Amino acid sequence: MSAARGIWITLEGGDGSGKTTQAALLEAWLEAQGRDVLRTREPGGSEVGVLIRDIVLHHRGDIAPRAEALLYAADRAHHVATVVRPALERGVVVIQDRYLDSSVAYQGAGRVLDAEEVRGLSLWAAEGALPDLTVLLDLDPADARRRLDSADKPFDRLEAEREEFHQRVREAYLALAEAEPERFLVVDAAQDPTAIADVVRARVAALL
Ligand code: TYD
Repeated sequence: MSAARGIWITLEGGDGSGKTTQAALLEAWLEAQGRDVLRTREPGGSEVGVLIRDIVLHHRGDIAPRAEALLYAADRAHHVATVVRPALERGVVVIQDRYLDSSVAYQGAGRVLDAEEVRGLSLWAAEGALPDLTVLLDLDPADARRRLDSADKPFDRLEAEREEFHQRVREAYLALAEAEPERFLVVDAAQDPTAIADVVRARVAALL
């Protein structure tokens, strides 16, 4: 995003990794420094996106994997074109919950779609736009699950499958971070939220 003056930060990680908490802490810190901040998310960071989010997250029944990937990509295309790019052009710091790495990690982890193709689709949708920084909140899915659901009951088959899926998502994220170390900051999300926020701030401060 060469012409832009703002800073674009995306947060990635499995469900329950603490992205929302970190986004809020980072927003408060940046605002205290006098920066204009926009908090947004995918899917659902635009009016059209809210409709798409409802389909991908709440439709009862299956969505064909390619259709699902296209829905996330459609949300992304509209969000980047109408929300993110204009904000960056105004000099705003954009803090975004999930971006194309989510598509690569989640849609790729379904084992039906090729991760490189999913990435290519997202890049086409977003006209190649990549964030200045991507914070990966890395957490063992079993820990994340304990956070989301404190009940310590044994797994049934479906839950065990879900657990395997989330392990694949985690591995995909770590591989993405390894492939682009200059864009990614990987943080151990098992730490205390304030300790995580300190690590994130140090890296963001270098971008300001
Ligand atoms: P999110 O709103 O971040 O929910 P959570 O707070 O549970 O992380 O994301 C909703 C779900 O959408 C999440 O399970 C990941 C999934 N997702 C994809 O599968 N592909 C994508 O491209 C994006 C952006 C999200």
